[in-house]
Amino acid sequence: MSNPRLVSRLLDLCLWCLIQNISRYITDIKPLPPNIKDRLIKIMSMLGRITDANINEILHPEVQTLDLQSCDISDTALLHLCNCRKLKKLNLNCSKGNRISITSEGIKAVASSCSYLQEASMKRCQNLTDEGVLALAFNCRLLKIIDLGGCLSITDVSLCALGEHCSLLKCVDFSATQVSDSGVVALVSGPCAKKLEEIHMGHCVHLTDDAVEAIVTCCPQIRILLFHECPLITDRSREVLEQLSGPNKLKQVTWTVY
Ligand SMILES: *[C@@H]1O[C@H](CO)[C@@H](O)[C@H](O)[C@H]1NC(C)=O
Ligand SMILES: *[C@@H]1O[C@H](CO)[C@@H](O)[C@H](O)[C@H]1NC(C)=O
Repeated sequence: MSNPRLVSRLLDLCLWCLIQNISRYITDIKPLPPNIKDRLIKIMSMLGRITDANINEILHPEVQTLDLQSCDISDTALLHLCNCRKLKKLNLNCSKGNRISITSEGIKAVASSCSYLQEASMKRCQNLTDEGVLALAFNCRLLKIIDLGGCLSITDVSLCALGEHCSLLKCVDFSATQVSDSGVVALVSGPCAKKLEEIHMGHCVHLTDDAVEAIVTCCPQIRILLFHECPLITDRSREVLEQLSGPNKLKQVTWTVY
């Protein structure tokens, strides 16, 4: 068989079969080589088939990307990431509803093992608290993207830590959290201010015009700024944004008129 595309298709077919009967083959998976495991991880992610019970069999030390947004996993699965020290992207977004089984315990475990993490998406992980974000900020200094949208108990403590430790941050989502102006000011007073391109802070009931003004003043690269459904933000912010022009022009802005 010399056609590499055919071989590749055949491999995928075998992996699909294996996944359909994974509980029967679970002990055979562990010794597979990393390149085959990568294919397996990709297909199982897509199908939402990675679980607390099987994740340890399919992971390997070279894994750099893990997309668990369709998978039903808990902190137990995250503890197994201790062998994935090269992980760069972790997607724990919850694709439907909320994810309550991920807490700061799991995120602290990830933070202590995966210090090369660049992207951490935890959308609607409702039970995540500042403690988990603090660990990420402290241990994962290369973070560029962090998504805490809908993590309802996150406060200014998280933004202060990110501002202090993560100088490469480009994109931060803290929509629908408890943050206030002082958290935003702390974030944009840090070294990442010059790198920040995208801030999502819609549905934050404590934010006022001061937060928008701080961002506009401190972040020359900001291109996307979302602050819809923030009831304390007024027309003054819209006026501040309208004064921006030339190279500083925003690409996307959202707000709500009250
Ligand atoms: C996480 O979910 C949000 C929307 O729910 C989406 O905008 C974002 O791109 C997702 N992140 C990843 C890494 O898929
Ligand atoms: C998630 O948080 C809720 C409310 O704070 C709590 O009742 C529940 O036990 C938590 N779940 C887990 C898995 O920690």
